[in-house]
Amino acid sequence: MKLTIVGGGSTYTPELIDGLVRLRDRIDVTEIALQDVSAERLDVLAAMSRRMLSAGGHPAAVTTHTDIAPAAEGAQIVLVQLRVGGQAARLQDETLPLRCDCLGQETTGAGGLAKALRTVPVMLDVAERVRAVNPDAWLIDFTNPVGIVTRALLTAGHTRVVGLCSSAMVFQRHFAKVLGVEPSRIALDHVGLNHLTWERRVLLDGEDVLPRLLGEHGEEVAPATGLPIGLLRRLGTVPSYYLHYYYAHDEVVAGQQANGVRAQEVMEIEGRLLSTYADESVTAKPELLTRRGGAFYSEAALDLMASLRAGDGRAHVVNVRNGATLPFLSEDSVIEVPATVGADGPVPLPSAPVEPLLAGLIANVTAYEHLALEAAVHGGRDRVFRALLAHPLVGQYAVADRLTDLLLEANRAYLPWA
Ligand code: G6P
Repeated sequence: MKLTIVGGGSTYTPELIDGLVRLRDRIDVTEIALQDVSAERLDVLAAMSRRMLSAGGHPAAVTTHTDIAPAAEGAQIVLVQLRVGGQAARLQDETLPLRCDCLGQETTGAGGLAKALRTVPVMLDVAERVRAVNPDAWLIDFTNPVGIVTRALLTAGHTRVVGLCSSAMVFQRHFAKVLGVEPSRIALDHVGLNHLTWERRVLLDGEDVLPRLLGEHGEEVAPATGLPIGLLRRLGTVPSYYLHYYYAHDEVVAGQQANGVRAQEVMEIEGRLLSTYADESVTAKPELLTRRGGAFYSEAALDLMASLRAGDGRAHVVNVRNGATLPFLSEDSVIEVPATVGADGPVPLPSAPVEPLLAGLIANVTAYEHLALEAAVHGGRDRVFRALLAHPLVGQYAVADRLTDLLLEANRAYLPWA
């Protein structure tokens, strides 16, 4: 089959290629179409990809495109991993909120809103262009903020869309390592929104081993959440790393103000990765790529692609339309939960009732996501202000007003209405 990667010039692309080589028995890819707005990045990443495929004995051909249409034509799956404004825009997203003592993070809080404003219009355009030449292709969205982007695409009538994030798979692998078992034996009762999730049960061959993980293995589990084991035991769940931005907000902000933000680290890593990829003697994914948050995301991507291709009905944690799954949210909300994936796409598995401690935050952030989408699609200062006011990490009108001005000023080049 033909696989298209929109944002193929990303430094993450070798992660996917590595997955395709390692896990080739799971999926029969014969052509990889890399699309990117930067011809220069495309050249570097295409050459690196070809070397990796050839060293791994994988027969797939790599083609490069700056336009979406030829890249998407004839593809069964289009994976989108783009970043509007690159890391420079991310640096702004992560530093401006700190001026108001708010979190500096690329997907959570005010930074995530700025990213959504820049990204949603581009993603709608990409999906439109894909549909024009290839209405049957499945679009897998890795582009952040995944929840808002997935909701934007579904709301615009793009039905063959699945939002994907590597975080559940990272926990699955981590728990498996801690327990000394194969990851495939572990299933998660994972609930919430993208980057706002909790593991409520961890099933090893069907038996819940969460009490053991929080008990005897607590000190190995807690660091992956950024929170102390004592808190996890009181919650009785394993929250995603993104929850520590809520549960320890002021502490995280103080740390960022003192030590800088993640974008600075990532810029340095990306510079080094790009020169490594440009080196013709390099034929394998560099170790340095494991320092990116999305290390090993190819595992989640390939597994999902295999189910979409085979329509095998296996369960995957994905971003999907809520429907009636979480009854305290509107049906058109997008949630991140395990879903069976057949030929018609994902269907969420039934979810146990969600306790108020989790449901309150999930509902609050869903309302914010709804307002963020309104702002991204329709523009307008007031819509941006309302989204910020609704966000639990902003909430106060004076802060929301100041952040609105800061974000709009910094993103004017990307927002024709601002
Ligand atoms: C995780 C998240 C992704 C995010 C990444 C950030 O994988 O699930 O949504 O993009 O971390 O990693 P970075 O190296 O860019 O900070």
